Amino acid sequence: MPGVVIIGAQWGDEGKGKATDLIANRTDYVVKFNGGNNAGHTVVIGDEKYALHLLPSGILTPGVTPVIANGVVIDLEVLFNELTALGSRGLDVSKLVVSANAHIITQYHRTLDRVTERFLGKRQIGTTGRGIGPAYADKINRVGIRIQDLFDENILRQKVEGALHQKNHLLVKVYNRRAIGVDEVVDDLLSYAERLRPMVADTALLLNRALDEGKTVVFEGGQATMLDVDHGTYPFVTSSSSTAGGAATGSGVAPNRLDRIIGIVKAYTTRVGAGPFPTELHDEWGERLRSVGFEFGTTTGRPRRTGWYDAPITRYTQRGNGVTDFVLTKLDVLTGIERIPVCVAYEVDGERFDEVPVSQTDFHHAKPVYEEFPGWDEDISGAREFGDLPKNAQEYVLALEEMSGSRMSAIGVGPDREAIVVRHDLLP
Ligand code: GDP
Ligand code: IMO
Ligand code: MG
Repeated sequence: MPGVVIIGAQWGDEGKGKATDLIANRTDYVVKFNGGNNAGHTVVIGDEKYALHLLPSGILTPGVTPVIANGVVIDLEVLFNELTALGSRGLDVSKLVVSANAHIITQYHRTLDRVTERFLGKRQIGTTGRGIGPAYADKINRVGIRIQDLFDENILRQKVEGALHQKNHLLVKVYNRRAIGVDEVVDDLLSYAERLRPMVADTALLLNRALDEGKTVVFEGGQATMLDVDHGTYPFVTSSSSTAGGAATGSGVAPNRLDRIIGIVKAYTTRVGAGPFPTELHDEWGERLRSVGFEFGTTTGRPRRTGWYDAPITRYTQRGNGVTDFVLTKLDVLTGIERIPVCVAYEVDGERFDEVPVSQTDFHHAKPVYEEFPGWDEDISGAREFGDLPKNAQEYVLALEEMSGSRMSAIGVGPDREAIVVRHDLLP
């Protein structure tokens, strides 16, 4: 009964979509358990390139049942646009199952996301502007709208009225915006209800039964450990639990049914949006990682911030998630660099920190302590076995493995589906 979790081990965009795709043909269910359409997963299959936001990457593999579980926040317009777009490219999207308990991102959440960011000024998070934070805030505040509310118009209206009462004061009196009408929100939400109805289910029951029957269930995390609302670089985080624990709360499958935790980590580091990033490069090396690695956001198109590999962060991720296996992606992007720096510790005001400092102020001031590794010049994109990699590339991987606390079970050597070296099977 394998339950397998895939999580981001840095600040997102590590290649989780590609890792999910790698095991999807031996998987029965792929479950999205956190976040919403702030995620952007690019999967390259032959000449086709797919950019997924709200749908789990497993939807690209015939036979897989994609599930959007209770921990997700759903923008219904995005959901149907994505389904239509994939359907028109010939994919079977009819199996999608959506949790009755998932929360909905409405028009007022999107509006509030944008105005609050603007009013934060210099302290802004650099959100994706998709309404993620305000939708999760309403969930925690117990004024959220859930998928099941679409099927009871009276309840829906009451809940929207309740949610808008306070928000309209805020929008009009504080932010100088127009008030949002209850009817326009309710009518918009109801317009999706009948199309949605056949997809809605008790996904916790469905997934537990699937595991009882020995099916393979992959939980595909959005975002990443350092963006997790509890364990990330708060407040520069997203608003959901993107760590392995989130797979349990976000799906209703108990932690003791999760057999493998796979951390996806780039051979260097990137981040989108604001917040601390000790190994960030502001020079031509940063520019090189960005251009060679094509580091531009799948969701917003923003250039990603780039820097060298940060081992204390991977150790932090390994501990907090119980990572059993890492997939190291984008090793090919480092080809041609003579000496590759890796951050092995930090220095904060003259003091050495071997692990991520708990104080936000310290982390903001952390300067990387680097160790350098010899690089390689050979094109590695055709490597399929560990032994195909040049000696120095092998040694780089083994050094990262040693520093990061778990085995590096697969190594990405290019964007294509096939461009991967597998050292240990990712499925139990
Ligand atoms: P996700 O959000 O974690 O799924 O990652 P994204 O899709 O946002 O970003 C990862 C990008 O790297 C995508 O464009 C992938 O096609 C690409 N990618 C994944 N693995 C590799 C790899 O091993 N090498 C290279 N060059 N690109 C990769
Ligand atoms: P995937 O799944 C990278 C970042 C945003 C911002 C912060 C909060 O593709 O790895 P939000 O809109 O979530 O409230 O924004 O989190 N962020 C991501 N960065 N990859 C992602 O997803 C992200 N999802 C959110 O840039 O800094
Ligand atoms: Mg992404």
